[in-house]
Amino acid sequence: MERLTEPIHLNLLALFYFLFGSYKKKIDYDLILRPHHAYSLLRVAEYAKENEISTVTLLEFGVAAGAGLMNMSQIASELTKSTGVQFKIYGFDTGKGMPPPESYKDHPEYYLEGDFPMNFEELQKNLPKNVELIIGDVR
Ligand SMILES: C[S@@+](CC[C@H](N)C(=O)[O-])C[C@H]1O[C@@H](n2cnc3c(N)ncnc32)[C@H](O)[C@@H]1O
Repeated sequence: MERLTEPIHLNLLALFYFLFGSYKKKIDYDLILRPHHAYSLLRVAEYAKENEISTVTLLEFGVAAGAGLMNMSQIASELTKSTGVQFKIYGFDTGKGMPPPESYKDHPEYYLEGDFPMNFEELQKNLPKNVELIIGDVR
């Protein structure tokens, strides 16, 4: 839907790449869900390949239900296919949602203790081998 706000000729090109493009082209044309993850992971995979770095570690601070972690993992596995670079992914979270706000900087008007909870058992069961959850306060 975000793509459709762009000029028509870019959308026509994007449609072509959506149907026939490589994974890299799909990233170039913002056709991968969470394009900010896709763009950064592509850049890091290309950098690693150029510099003969075989494995890259990704850290996510704040996992919640795991949508972002699973998205990164899926993108990483596609990029491993095309670049050979391996990814090891760690997700840090309390495991029970937001800790209590400590000051106005935590935006207590938006975020309360327990918001964004995680179903640890369910998420753990579905994690690929290269993804690990680290439970506890990041401090
Ligand atoms: C907005 S959610 C993360 C959303 C997730 N990144 C995604 O893409 O779906 C924020 C998460 O940060 C976690 N969190 C906040 N403060 C934390 C702390 N001090 N230690 C560990 N986890 C924390 C909360 O448990 C919550 O699940």
